[in-house]
Amino acid sequence: MTSVADIVARARERPRNLSVDDLARLVALEDPDEQRVARAAAYALKCRVAGKLVSVRGLVELGNICSKDCLYCGIRRSNANLARYRLSVDDVLRMAEIDAAAGYASIVLQGGEVESEANTAFIEECLRGMAHLDLGVTLSLGEQTEAVYRRWKAAGASRYLLRIETSSPGLYARLHPADHSWTRRADCLAALRRCGYQVGTGVMSALPGQTPEDLARDIVFFGDRDVDMIGMGPYIPHPDTPLASVPNPWTDADRLRIGLNMIAATRLYLHDVNIASTTALQALAPDGREQGILAGANVMMPNVTDVAYRRQYQLYAGKPCLDENADQCRTALERSLAAIGERINYGARGDSAHFHARIAAGGLAGSGRM
Ligand code: 5AD
Repeated sequence: MTSVADIVARARERPRNLSVDDLARLVALEDPDEQRVARAAAYALKCRVAGKLVSVRGLVELGNICSKDCLYCGIRRSNANLARYRLSVDDVLRMAEIDAAAGYASIVLQGGEVESEANTAFIEECLRGMAHLDLGVTLSLGEQTEAVYRRWKAAGASRYLLRIETSSPGLYARLHPADHSWTRRADCLAALRRCGYQVGTGVMSALPGQTPEDLARDIVFFGDRDVDMIGMGPYIPHPDTPLASVPNPWTDADRLRIGLNMIAATRLYLHDVNIASTTALQALAPDGREQGILAGANVMMPNVTDVAYRRQYQLYAGKPCLDENADQCRTALERSLAAIGERINYGARGDSAHFHARIAAGGLAGSGRM
């Protein structure tokens, strides 16, 4: 078997210098010493690209009304054990002010998937209302038409996150009802790219039936689509969903290990993309997000949604930080990052280095291989 030291040495030479077999080996690492070698190399690359700084975006959970029925997700439309809410424009603008006052300089507006003129206009109003705050704005609002993506871009959004969830159409079909289409999701990523967004995607790891090769091909998919940002995390069963009753071999320790291995492997393969250390990691270990940074991630998305709404936006069981307000979250984050020798990149939007390299290389924002 190829040694991890050899894989890491090749990875350092240039981006995309690993095979599916190499990536599958990194993703499946169990030996603590081998994990250390892979994560240390990924962290060194992160420091080369982003310094010892973490870019922070406040996360606003706009609403949990969702037309999708994903078999794993706590806010799926069939889950009746949930009061549905949607924030008002005023709520959102208040949270954006909190985010700007905290110095994060970027914000993520995330919510259940709704395709309607009313929702499109609501998002436009939020975007126009926060323009004076000069934040980098990421949207994470699911599949929409290209025309809607264009309207939101024109209203001030600059980044869009749309997880493909898995690059395997076969596995995707087992995780979603028949009317959910992998192809449409992939087409949406192409549309976002044409609209000039910094495009982010990602997957869940440790899904039932998923193999290390599936995850390795996910990472190759990120490269083939030439995406700028990655947000991924381990699958965590939610008791009110159908997938929770499907037998699952993974313990929480496995989920954390695989999630961290995915971050390290993705950094080693892609070098200059933004990679988020997601809250799913924090749900599995109190210092899960810090471990994510040390495995090569460079972005965090602390929740700035009012505490009153957070319980209603539980995608998985054990969501952390349900009762801490934005200020408490920020103080805790500063302290935990200081403990690993990292600082919040205050006042900087923290754009994806890959995006700027892509544009500088002559690619119009709308061109590319998608
Ligand atoms: N465990 C982990 N992540 C989940 N998501 C949804 N449900 C779960 C779960 N049970 C993720 C999906 C989605 C994102 C918003 O949350 O990847 O794209």
